[in-house]
Amino acid sequence: MNAENRIHALRAELDQHNYRYYVLDEPSVPDAEYDRLFNELKALEAEHPHLVTPDSPTQRVGGAALAAFSQVRHEIPMLSLGNAFEEADLREFGRRVVEGLDQREAVDYSCEPKLDGLAVSLLYRNGQLVQGATRGDGTTGEDISTNVRTIRNVPLKLHGKGWPEVLEVRGEVYMSKAGFERLNAAQAEVGGKTFANPRNAAAGSLRQLDSKITASRPLEFCCYGVGQTSARVADSHIATLEQLKVWGLPISPELKHAEGIEQCLAYYQDIGARRNSLAYEIDGVVFKVNSLAAQQELGFRAREPRWAIAHKFPAMEELTEVLDVEFQVGRTGAVTPVARLKPVKVAGVTVSNATLHNMDEIARLGLRIGDTVIIRRAGDVIPQVMQVVLDRRPDDARAVEVPSACPVCGSQVERTQLIKRSKGRETTSEGAVYRCVGRLACGAQLKQAIIHYVSRRAMDIDGLGEKSVEQLVDEGLIRSPADLYALKPEQVFELEGFAEVSSRKLVEAIEASKRPTLARFIFALGIPDVGEETAKVLARSLGSLERVKVALPQVLTYLPDIGLEVAHEIHNFFEDAHNRDVIEQLLASGMQLQDQGELAAEFAASTTLAGMIAKLDIPSVGPTGAEKLVDKLGTLEKIIAADGIDLRQALTTKQAEAVREFFKVEANQQLARAIEAQLKDFGMHWHSEKKTADGLPLAGQTWVLTGTLERMSRDIAKEKLESLGAKVAGSVSGKTHCVVAGPGAGSKLAKASELGVKVLDEDAFVAFLAEQGIAV
Ligand code: IVH
Repeated sequence: MNAENRIHALRAELDQHNYRYYVLDEPSVPDAEYDRLFNELKALEAEHPHLVTPDSPTQRVGGAALAAFSQVRHEIPMLSLGNAFEEADLREFGRRVVEGLDQREAVDYSCEPKLDGLAVSLLYRNGQLVQGATRGDGTTGEDISTNVRTIRNVPLKLHGKGWPEVLEVRGEVYMSKAGFERLNAAQAEVGGKTFANPRNAAAGSLRQLDSKITASRPLEFCCYGVGQTSARVADSHIATLEQLKVWGLPISPELKHAEGIEQCLAYYQDIGARRNSLAYEIDGVVFKVNSLAAQQELGFRAREPRWAIAHKFPAMEELTEVLDVEFQVGRTGAVTPVARLKPVKVAGVTVSNATLHNMDEIARLGLRIGDTVIIRRAGDVIPQVMQVVLDRRPDDARAVEVPSACPVCGSQVERTQLIKRSKGRETTSEGAVYRCVGRLACGAQLKQAIIHYVSRRAMDIDGLGEKSVEQLVDEGLIRSPADLYALKPEQVFELEGFAEVSSRKLVEAIEASKRPTLARFIFALGIPDVGEETAKVLARSLGSLERVKVALPQVLTYLPDIGLEVAHEIHNFFEDAHNRDVIEQLLASGMQLQDQGELAAEFAASTTLAGMIAKLDIPSVGPTGAEKLVDKLGTLEKIIAADGIDLRQALTTKQAEAVREFFKVEANQQLARAIEAQLKDFGMHWHSEKKTADGLPLAGQTWVLTGTLERMSRDIAKEKLESLGAKVAGSVSGKTHCVVAGPGAGSKLAKASELGVKVLDEDAFVAFLAEQGIAV
């Protein structure tokens, strides 16, 4: 096949994949295959630039920046919709439609979500996209042709045949919730402008004079109607949209028929109930009389059609005032600013507080006390302050200041430091978080620490609620988690809400918590930044509390997903004398940590001398350089002692120089020796090659848990499987080794039998665990 034919074939195939992906929502090939075809096309087009056409899928990258948008007149004005806020408004609309049509039987309506983005018109001539325009004032909009071409699901040419010569389609350009979150995170990272909501993000991204910026934004298009056409597409609105879909235009998967207003109301309820779980934001639903003849009969009133209405949902954003900013102290001592707001109803819920996260966030928002702000409650998420309305700032607005003393215990409040390692040096910079240094002497931290310690996923001590913890702390009965183990039933009995039996039960539950797994115990300690997963990694890799306690930060960074910052948090936690005391006391109370043992084989295998050297971040010495150095010189001591000549045998002059410079610094020598000594002390030997052998009986296997287990919780079952080296997944596939199915197991069990995957019931599972030496 010659290049030209291949280019045509690739375009046709990519177009087909795009259509399956964006319009039918049924991806036909994995992303990697799509990328391969795309890159092949790009390469061929680069070789044969005269074969590049504007409708090629490679042409979605944007073009030269414009000085201004030119204007576009809409042949048929782009109108807006009347709104219904209450059920009664919608019924009134329905009555007017019936009256206007003088019709006895129920009116056929189309129902669509009202996407919260911006209206756009796309003009196709002979099936080719020739123009994109914003709505503007409805009569004149802006020419955003280059920008719309960058939107992935806007077809550059129509599929199939039979389209009118002139076809103007209209729809909404919007950004999904996930796209919005991603964009804001990326913008915040580079100190760029963040957006208050997906709608603003979509508008800001589409109206860019530099279309390359638009191309980099996750915009999507959804078609909801037609404008001018040289021939009628169909006789009804729904049939029109379905025909557009055949031609490759994306329409809403939620498009439905409704017979009469009652069914419209049911649609409103249904979408409303699913509003939070939709991938994009909607501010209501749109009902349109389906028959185009009926639409024509009804006509327009002012700038709104009589045949359509938007039934709105309660707004998710409101304006309110910041009355004050207070500081709350969390479990790890983080002093978090919280905005006290003038109470306001947002989407049916009264909001009077919103977290401000940290001082950087306050700086980013430019927020002062007294400001009017936009509050947003997206779904079930905690209300957020999105933006300050500067126009409304009062003269006496006050800057927010971090208190120098903890509002709970009066201890000093310190700014956290961020640690980075680069070019062989550790540097610190000021973090956004402030912390009370009081630790467990701070009532707020102590309460949170105990609540965390007893929580289900930590030590799982049943029967101790937050209120009781507060009381125990306030009455001075416990000063650290270790004091829990000295509690007597008589003392518990004194607390509010406890009777004789429940007091005894609580003390028993505390006693029964003395045999946790190492991972649970580490998690329960409440080390800053150490969640359940990190605790599991520490336990599994290092195998004993003793090793976790002494591990150097640099050694900790060998573990999966532990960065230098978290490594320092862990190290500092165990360096702290008070924390050490608490751990001593806990162990002295009879705590017996389960499944402590050897260093994990995978960890031991992952460390090599070259790897360690590479991690020292000697300038210009990467993994390959480190490898060469070790091959040539063999041991750390020889590398430290090597002179320029030795080093140049293995490395470039520049690298050799860098190694010399690095080890000239006494502290660097000491650090390298300390890391090596610790790794050896942990029982590790330098391996020159990586081994994947794990030694655990279920290493490399994937298990799935389904149904209810009666003799242990699913969490515990997961923990046990993981301790044997298995991965526990959420769904059954061909890669699943075994499914543990309790009563009530449904589709996963069915899938397992369909695929012939081994299934164990709970008894068989318990027996299997027993064989592996694990008691339940
Ligand atoms: S129909 C004459 N359908 O809502 C009918 N509009 O207030 C014109 N919108 O400017 C619009 N989803 O930006 C229609 N399914 C939908 C819609 C929708 C969102 C927006 C559109 C329009 C505004 C009307």
